[in-house]
Amino acid sequence: MLHDARGPFSSLVDVTTGLVDRSIYADQSIYELELERIFARAWNFMCHESQIPKAGDFFLSFIGEESVIATRDKKGELQVLLNSCRHRGNAVCRAESGNARSFLCTYHGWTYGLDGSLIGVPGYKDFYHEQLDKSQWGLVKAGKVASYKGFVFATMDPEAPDLEEYLGEVGRMGIDLIAERGDMEIVEGIQKNLIGCNWKLAVDNLFDWYHPQISHASAFMAGAVREPQNLTQQDMMQLQKAQIGGLSPMHQRVILGGYGHAIGGPRIEEEALDIRSKFYDRVDPIFDDRYREDPKVQDVLGGVGVTTAGHPNIFPNLWVALGAHQLSLRLPRGPHQTEIWWFTFTPKDATPDRKAAIVGMANSIFGAAGLLEQDDGENWDQSTRAMRGVVAQRYPLNFAMGTGATPVAVAGGVSYIDTTINEHAQLWTYRAWAEWMDADSWAALKQTHSTAPAADARP
Ligand code: FES
Ligand SMILES: [Fe+2]
Repeated sequence: MLHDARGPFSSLVDVTTGLVDRSIYADQSIYELELERIFARAWNFMCHESQIPKAGDFFLSFIGEESVIATRDKKGELQVLLNSCRHRGNAVCRAESGNARSFLCTYHGWTYGLDGSLIGVPGYKDFYHEQLDKSQWGLVKAGKVASYKGFVFATMDPEAPDLEEYLGEVGRMGIDLIAERGDMEIVEGIQKNLIGCNWKLAVDNLFDWYHPQISHASAFMAGAVREPQNLTQQDMMQLQKAQIGGLSPMHQRVILGGYGHAIGGPRIEEEALDIRSKFYDRVDPIFDDRYREDPKVQDVLGGVGVTTAGHPNIFPNLWVALGAHQLSLRLPRGPHQTEIWWFTFTPKDATPDRKAAIVGMANSIFGAAGLLEQDDGENWDQSTRAMRGVVAQRYPLNFAMGTGATPVAVAGGVSYIDTTINEHAQLWTYRAWAEWMDADSWAALKQTHSTAPAADARP
């Protein structure tokens, strides 16, 4: 389908029928507008504070395709700076992480302080004749930078709402589900790899509990996840309801929030909360979820959060992957390529066995060597190739599974649907995508974005 790249994008995502136009995965001009209207506007995840604890520590991250330096200045303030010299645009930082006193451009030597200010210009007296106003030529700074429970985000748009307001109940719950597991520290080394797919396919897959039995059949046969040992029939049923490391197609929950945040996947049946402890020594140690028994954690997560075991996505592209305590960024690299980043965390007080189990799973499930990610990447790659076809683009994709079947419930200010496997969260994400793409400013988006659905609605 040919259309004007300036939308309306709502016509490409039919929220009533669940049909999504294939051009949104293939069209170069749509992709370029995503960089402008989604990535340059949204709060993007940068890094964890434990990666940059001291003044001068820095970590290179991305906002869309643009390199940014997340750093801590001399006052201890978090700074996010565009990694592009104001003179000819050269990168001023080339290491992926480290500690620096300043950022020296390797082209002509302009030097920037940790807060981005231009502090050194070779030939300032002799060649510029002191005619350059250095105060106007610092590195471009993010519009806003903030940390939520140690997780650092930045937006390039100063008109964006503050981070906590942006995250709302659902975004905060998504991060709480990892942050409340204990004092988290990063595992050295961020895994990065390229997959030949549109970034949105990698995002919508994180909610997808329909594919594992098929896509990952061989990985499960190969023992990618250790099956619980010596279980009776009754144990099996309890384990399914308790959602420890299993895939239960019948016990699912989706939680829908503002600006496109969503959580989708298994839920823990309330009566099964109490029986979880008896299984922890019989399943893979990474499934140890004991933190949910702590009353302080229960206070933070609320009743819905405590019984949620699905996957949060912080719109647009941050997956909080709870299995191995990971965060994954799906970074856009053109309409047909995505750079996947994996950050792995361990609770500081975890036993060495548990830490080893977390790192082992982080290496063998996702990331460049991950059994599951290779399965997934192959599917997304083939989908992305096919989306380019002129004939293929005459036929939309189907995201209608289970939508409209079960009404929304609301508890503790959170809108959720308890149901079987479904595609609510995926469709919610595409609905938000269209709203972001149709709004030409934050002011417009604040007006037009979908908020969490009301009780009894059928989104
Ligand atoms: S490009 Fe950086 S100093 Fe010239
Ligand atoms: Fe998968």
